[in-house]
Amino acid sequence: MPGRGLEDVVAAQTAISDIDGRLGRLFYVGYDIHELAENSTFEETVWLLHHLKLPTQDELDQIADQLGVERDLDDFVLRLMPTMAEQTSPMSMLRTTVSAMSAHDPDGWDQSPDANYRKAMRLVARFPTVIAMYDRIRKNLDVIKPNPKLSHAGNLLYMLLGHEPEEEMARVLDICLILHADHTMNASTFAARVAASTLSDIHSAITAAIATLKGPLHGGANEAVMNMLLKIDDPGKVEAHVKKLFAEKKKIMGFGHRVYKTEDPRATVLRKLAKQVGEHVGETKWYEMSLTVEEVVKAEKGLYPNVDFFAASVYYGLGIPVDLFTPIFAASRVSGWTAHVREQYDDNRLIRPESDYIGPRNQHYISIDQRG
Ligand code: ACO
Repeated sequence: MPGRGLEDVVAAQTAISDIDGRLGRLFYVGYDIHELAENSTFEETVWLLHHLKLPTQDELDQIADQLGVERDLDDFVLRLMPTMAEQTSPMSMLRTTVSAMSAHDPDGWDQSPDANYRKAMRLVARFPTVIAMYDRIRKNLDVIKPNPKLSHAGNLLYMLLGHEPEEEMARVLDICLILHADHTMNASTFAARVAASTLSDIHSAITAAIATLKGPLHGGANEAVMNMLLKIDDPGKVEAHVKKLFAEKKKIMGFGHRVYKTEDPRATVLRKLAKQVGEHVGETKWYEMSLTVEEVVKAEKGLYPNVDFFAASVYYGLGIPVDLFTPIFAASRVSGWTAHVREQYDDNRLIRPESDYIGPRNQHYISIDQRG
């Protein structure tokens, strides 16, 4: 009998990423995440996840160009956006927009491998445009057109904040995007693969993934972390606040993980970035409060921070609105989701697990007037 929540169940074979939960290591195609965070770029990582090898210079130029020219949204989405900016939360908007994008994709309903690759690149290219446009319309600000000369990360910050970011801050976001790009059979990737396994289209699979990432036990935790820090506000009150949460048997967002039994390797990098961004913007309070939360949670329950914990203060320092933290996560993870969907199509078998029936048996129908 598998564990509850499919714990320890192997749901797919994959050549995309791998985790060693005991040693706290994460690999994309065999490359340690620390080496990639140090040396790679998001564009290169997208190529790696989709082609299962690092690109040559020509290939890197090719994918950077492709992601650069595919950033513009179609008219259908442009017409929808003002209504969504007015009426929906960011993750609901993203879910609806990706679903809507399927209607006007230049490759239509072509599900050939080549068309699916192009659709995947379009999705990766357009997430930042969608997120930035939504934010600026809801704030009555001018929408900023994508700048194809900027990197994926630099352009995201540019469209969102309305000015070209400093190189150091663009690189910080670039590293965050690398760190969030893939993570084996997490809940949203599993959801995407389940949808793909029915041979549903790639936009449907990514819509399912966004819906799954949205929840606070998955991608929604980064927003919850920042809201907790903002609510505490005073470094002197962190310990009491966290202890109160434990006393009330509440979960501390940004801690714990199904697979890692030690520190999440992404948290190690993000802790350093949180310090770097805090010092750069002259506000280290959130980083310092995070360190205290970490200390108390470790002492009280022996839990380690996951990817969402320090990402919160990094994004906050970069000037990203708190309710966009999870969409920014999605803007990176769409690279891994689409790679997994294409891998599923390449060697598909319908994903259809069993359930363990625990209800009554051998019942007989009773007419409605005789039911107690
Ligand atoms: N705060 C307090 N206690 C926790 C936490 C936490 N964050 N995480 C786990 N625990 C405790 C549980 O209460 C449980 O304790 P018990 O055995 O005494 O009842 C034990 O640790 C096991 O926890 P489960 O929830 O069963 O572990 P599971 O593997 O199902 O959940 C999860 C993993 C969902 C990430 C969990 O640790 C959690 O809810 N964390 C907070 C939300 C969060 O940060 N999510 C982001 C995860 S990373 C990502 O998805 C991008």
